[in-house]
Amino acid sequence: MGSPLSLEFTNSWFESSARSTWDQLIPQLKPKRILEIGSYEGASTCYLIDKLAPQEGQIEIHCIDTWEGGLENQQGGIAPADMSGVEKRFCSNTELALAAKAPAEVKLVRHKDFSYKALARLLDNGKEGFFDFVYIDGSHQAVDVITDAIMSYYLVRKDGILAFDDYNWSEFAGEKRDPLRCPKLAIDSFSNIFFRKVVALKVPLYQVYFRKIA
Ligand SMILES: C[S@@+](CC[C@H](N)C(=O)[O-])C[C@H]1O[C@@H](n2cnc3c(N)ncnc32)[C@H](O)[C@@H]1O
Repeated sequence: MGSPLSLEFTNSWFESSARSTWDQLIPQLKPKRILEIGSYEGASTCYLIDKLAPQEGQIEIHCIDTWEGGLENQQGGIAPADMSGVEKRFCSNTELALAAKAPAEVKLVRHKDFSYKALARLLDNGKEGFFDFVYIDGSHQAVDVITDAIMSYYLVRKDGILAFDDYNWSEFAGEKRDPLRCPKLAIDSFSNIFFRKVVALKVPLYQVYFRKIA
């Protein structure tokens, strides 16, 4: 897939699920400190660089990914991928997006690790309540999504936004659908347990957005 910047993406996940909501949300929120869990080839990261830089003062985008893929990206999964190629495209795409803007105005921090380890390090490094916008689009396994959700709650500031992709994602349909291998159970559990601390925003069903209120 091409773009005016010759960015190279092999899928349209970001275009089909997030872009229309972000076109409305991002100009209102104007986030300066962003955390993304699951970056793949950098489609969502490049969108943020393009829309947010340059702004008054530096913006900071932290990208967490193993670049090893989830279970669905392994051989035999529903979206098998050569993850070393994916990682190379993340690097070249974000370099191009940065070069087209004001590179000095964007601090892009890559955390190549499992999300629970990278998130724990961010908390340990004083980033509690630091982020304006957290986008959770990493592992689709319920155990990982609930871990990402709770740790991200502590990393986002009050009135900041926690966004989840793939609310209705599943590997298989019907009886083969395993609720522990889907994000939905984790997002619903987070929403129920944190109902005094976050408020759900009106959003399309495939994604879910919460504002932290306490
Ligand atoms: C759906 S893709 C992200 C798509 C990207 N946000 C976009 O809009 O193009 C999911 C990514 O999460 C990463 N991932 C899966 N499980 C992970 C985990 N436990 N920790 C960190 N990254 C993980 C995969 O390597 C993959 O690159």
